[in-house]
Amino acid sequence: MLPSTASLKQTGGREFARIVFDEETIARRVRELGRDITAAYADGELLVLGLLKGSFIFLSDLVRRIDRPLQVDFLVAASYGEGTMSSGNVRLLYDPETELRGKHILLVEDIVDTGKTVNRLVTLLRERAPESLEVCALLHKHLAEHLALAPKFVGFDAPRVFLVGYGLDHAENFRHLPYIASLT
Ligand code: IMP
Ligand code: MG
Repeated sequence: MLPSTASLKQTGGREFARIVFDEETIARRVRELGRDITAAYADGELLVLGLLKGSFIFLSDLVRRIDRPLQVDFLVAASYGEGTMSSGNVRLLYDPETELRGKHILLVEDIVDTGKTVNRLVTLLRERAPESLEVCALLHKHLAEHLALAPKFVGFDAPRVFLVGYGLDHAENFRHLPYIASLT
């Protein structure tokens, strides 16, 4: 169900063309991902590392579906330069305080688009000598020409349109929507 036009206007002045993934579909898939992740990590220490801000809702739903001990921390990355194109020059604004060495690291991302963010973060995180490093992406656009590490866990293959909601933003708006919608 879409929020009323009035509430959308307050949020960002736009109306969505369509809901791409509804609440129920997302919840079902997140449960499956939780089961897959639980099964994939039989032993060792697991650190689930959420890339802010986009992963905040997905991560909080996902960790509650993982049935084994784990720790949670976050990364805040920023691209140099503004604009709508991902520049690929990613630097860390917030670095996890948790020790990464010797742990299974699961990097959780909202969406893999050009893949530049993942590529840069994978390089950075590998320098910390984790026991293993994998990526879990809620959405994958399959646009990236080269991925340093293909996401082992993917929620949905995404249409190649701009998506908002369930953590994803457009100019910081729409992150709170409980579903994923296309803006155009
Ligand atoms: P990449 O480096 O091009 O893979 O970009 C990844 C980041 O760009 C994601 O973590 C998102 O924050 C943002 N992004 C890419 N595509 C979308 C979209 O369709 N909607 C909202 N944010 C997006
Ligand atoms: Mg964004």
